[in-house]
Amino acid sequence: MDRVEALLHDSVRSDFDFATRTSLHLVDAGGKRFRPLFTLLAAHFADPAPDAVITSATVIEMVHLSTLYHDDVMDEATMRRGATSANVRWDNSVAILTGDFLMAHASRLVADLGPDAVRQIAITFEALVTGQMRETVGAREDDDPVQHYLQVIYEKTGSLIATAGRFGGNASGAPPAHVAALEEFGKLIGIAFQISDDVIDIASPATDSGKTPGTDLREGVRTLPMLYALSAADTDPRLRELLAEPLTADADVAEALKLLRESSGLESARETLDDYAEQAQRVLSALPDCPAREALTALVHYVVARTR
Ligand code: IPE
Ligand code: IPE
Ligand code: MG
Ligand code: MG
Repeated sequence: MDRVEALLHDSVRSDFDFATRTSLHLVDAGGKRFRPLFTLLAAHFADPAPDAVITSATVIEMVHLSTLYHDDVMDEATMRRGATSANVRWDNSVAILTGDFLMAHASRLVADLGPDAVRQIAITFEALVTGQMRETVGAREDDDPVQHYLQVIYEKTGSLIATAGRFGGNASGAPPAHVAALEEFGKLIGIAFQISDDVIDIASPATDSGKTPGTDLREGVRTLPMLYALSAADTDPRLRELLAEPLTADADVAEALKLLRESSGLESARETLDDYAEQAQRVLSALPDCPAREALTALVHYVVARTR
């Protein structure tokens, strides 16, 4: 992880100091580094020594970072990683351009990994963008809202975490069956990770998440706890009213958060999270029993535990 940090810092340097500064803003603000950690662990089923392993993990975190800059513009978020978001510290244009700048550097770095990796990042970036667009447009009348939600979170979050696993496997020279298992594991734990993020947006204080709770309510994004709360037989009519459109007033957000915390939707979403965590765990049986597999098991437990 130290080598990933070093490469991350080296890779965002620009002759234009301002671009370096805006890029380092979120790099230095913290973050869990969940995705590069997963890439490194995924490389421990074969040979973790090649430089390509470090490059892979760094590329994944840079793509992730780029999406965070863009996502905060879309969500009009004011806090990220416990710091003022770039769109507020500077403005939307700077935040968007910084996201583009990071994506450009990720593309340069991924070229060292060969054409297959370049193609995979392109496919992943398309999925990330499609997920964000699908979420923005929302479910159509004849869509099943939960299916729509699951498709969105696979695209906007699961796809990159799946690629994180695949890159770790490929860079370490793992056999194709193991690479496939790592990719599938990444997809499932990625879906679980986004469900946990959506639970946290409702259930946790900003001091834990480093983000403003209720952002999904303000954006009018219907996450899984909300969809489940709305489909329950005994939904509070006031909650139904509040969830009908994006909320702007602080008092409305606070009231909706309170009602959601008391609703059965939160617990139902945690059950779905458990279900994906179990599926991820099962995929691990296709991989050899070794310390890296134990570490991936711990990663699954972490994703579940952070919502309790
Ligand atoms: C935030 O990801 C975006 C989601 C997909 C939920 P993380 O929760 O991994 O954010 P950082 O990297 O730790 O800041
Ligand atoms: C967006 O989901 C995930 C990305 C791919 C950036 P969210 O909007 O829930 O992410 P956060 O909560 O802002 O990190
Ligand atoms: Mg957001
Ligand atoms: Mg969120």
